[in-house]
Amino acid sequence: MNILDLSGKVAIVTGAGQGVGRAIALTLAAQGAKVAVNDYFQDRADNVANEIAVAGGTAIGVQADVTDLDGVKAMMARVADELGSTDILVNNAGNEGANPSENSAPKPFWETTPQDWQRWLGVNLYGVINCVSAATPYMIQRQSGRLITIISDAGRMGESGIEVYSGGKAGAAGFMRAVARTLGRYNITANCVAIAATMTPTVQPALEAMPPERRKKTLERYVIRRFGRPEDIAGMVTMLASDASGWTTGQTIPVNGGFSFAM
Ligand SMILES: NC(=O)c1ccc[n+]([C@@H]2O[C@H](COP(=O)([O-])OP(=O)(O)OC[C@H]3O[C@@H](n4cnc5c(N)ncnc54)[C@H](O)[C@@H]3O)[C@@H](O)[C@H]2O)c1
Repeated sequence: MNILDLSGKVAIVTGAGQGVGRAIALTLAAQGAKVAVNDYFQDRADNVANEIAVAGGTAIGVQADVTDLDGVKAMMARVADELGSTDILVNNAGNEGANPSENSAPKPFWETTPQDWQRWLGVNLYGVINCVSAATPYMIQRQSGRLITIISDAGRMGESGIEVYSGGKAGAAGFMRAVARTLGRYNITANCVAIAATMTPTVQPALEAMPPERRKKTLERYVIRRFGRPEDIAGMVTMLASDASGWTTGQTIPVNGGFSFAM
């Protein structure tokens, strides 16, 4: 018996055109789910959907900006039409959103503006609220569902230099806990996975550019002395998406090489 089997399920993974989201999409598909690969950039979404198809799975690439509720609703409707109703939603789109600032000398947070904050809060907080709101009616209709949001240890512990991001991720986790309480009666679970530094196209260049001494010091904070790999995260998400996790809800589970521990 495969306790992670997802045959017959339909999953949407946001921001899945690269990095952690891509690994999640590939892993859910490998367990038999039909996957809607979302990204702000259509070509990224299509490339990953294609990888899944080449591996023998079923996937479509769906462009949508998770910060735009109408676009997200249209995405859910298209997925229902083409793949069937959504069983699993993974809110993965994050970091600084689709159009990150190119400011190489970041300012202290007290000198930033609501316009700067919006880039972080739009994708990491409102994006999650939009997608959960749009997916919930489909899940209520089926009387089952899995809502999973990728947050950051920055949202659990706070991280200096990315204060607004930390707040957005903490907000998303608080939202997911409340949603878990509201939707439990429909057999819908809502959980977060909190991750630490993970080698993805957005983060890897900065990690690799670290001077060796600083890299060593940074890695000393990780009990498992390496940075994360996208597959590390995909494993936990697949577990939460599966029938093996039917009694797990309202939780934030760190997958972080022991960077911090949950109590
Ligand atoms: N990589 C890390 O070290 C790290 C650490 C902590 C948390 N996280 C979180 O993990 C998640 C994945 O991180 P990653 O590094 O793999 O991401 P990434 O930046 O490499 O890729 C994110 C993808 O999401 C897409 N995207 C961005 N904004 C979008 C929007 N508004 N609508 C739709 N798609 C959008 C991008 O086009 C991109 O393809 C994010 O939520 C991030 O905040 C990452």
